Amino acid sequence: MVEITKDILFAKSVLDEGNIVAIPTETVFGLAANGTSVQALKKIFRVIGRPIIYPLILHFGDFNSITPFVNGITTDVEQLANAFWPGPLTLLLPRSKKVPDIVTAGSNRVAVRIPNHSMTIALLKSLDYPLAAPSANPSGYISPTKPQHVEKQLGQSIPLILDGGSCKSGIESTILGWENGIPTIYRTGVITSDMIAKVLGKAPEFNKKSDVLEAPGMMSSHYAPKTKTLVTDDIPTLYDKHKNEDIGLITFQQNTGLKIKKEIVLSSKASLEEMAEKLYAAMHLLDGMDLDVIIIEKAPDEGIGRAINDRLERSSFKK
Ligand code: TXA
Ligand code: MG
Repeated sequence: MVEITKDILFAKSVLDEGNIVAIPTETVFGLAANGTSVQALKKIFRVIGRPIIYPLILHFGDFNSITPFVNGITTDVEQLANAFWPGPLTLLLPRSKKVPDIVTAGSNRVAVRIPNHSMTIALLKSLDYPLAAPSANPSGYISPTKPQHVEKQLGQSIPLILDGGSCKSGIESTILGWENGIPTIYRTGVITSDMIAKVLGKAPEFNKKSDVLEAPGMMSSHYAPKTKTLVTDDIPTLYDKHKNEDIGLITFQQNTGLKIKKEIVLSSKASLEEMAEKLYAAMHLLDGMDLDVIIIEKAPDEGIGRAINDRLERSSFKK
């Protein structure tokens, strides 16, 4: 049985023994192991059924501990670190020899970030290695934003969940790298392209799908509930098609008043931050209700809404 605890020293001892621990971050829960131990890292891939060809993010407690793991810190990196770390931004940087191949799936770049969660920062500062961690979900499923989500999906296969409460940002970090010196967004998140442009004095580009190695968060089907999920900006039409089924509905701002088994409004004050924070928990809840279909209203396609719609599109994609 998995133990759910706030005891950071206990988490440290489990990690020091080469075992895995679910850790809270401001984005989603991660499934963490010693980022320098190949044996410990293999456990992560095994437990969530993640193909070994997909790289992992290394998490650090402060900026200075990152430098031995990367080759070269540019001005761009310093500026972004000052502006957004600790926070939901992951940077792809040239890796040093200290990073095991399994972390980067052989790539010469390593993904690094400092998560903005006091408990996890305290844990990271107590360790003499970084933590590699994917989101703590079975590969392809919705990311967890509460300890209970991790417990439900992975409770049988991991020893410990560090209970840091609910995740405040609610969707995975923005991933940024450089292509021939040009800042490039690989995964959208709550740190938006505009926010990055302001800091760097130049607008980042968006990575075009075709020219990257297909990473899990970038695959067409991902973040997906088991229940059939449909995403729309026209609820009445979709409702009409499915009105004889058990529907779960997630809307952005307003209750529809339609006859529906379960309806969840994410942000009555129409805040995209709040929508991002609450989206996955709503999806987890509906996916546990044995419904025929989950219908989710799209976000306005701007700022954080762009990141939300990216996740929604992948969650509803079926081959
Ligand atoms: O907010 C987050 O980023 C959360 C928390 C736990 O930090 N983590 C997370 O990890 O979402 P994961 O593994 O579910 O998604 C990380 C994404 C994947 O799409 C992975 O392929 C990509 O980052 N990635 C990691 N290292 C990479 C590398 N060296 N090159 C290219 N992509 C990389
Ligand atoms: Mg993930």
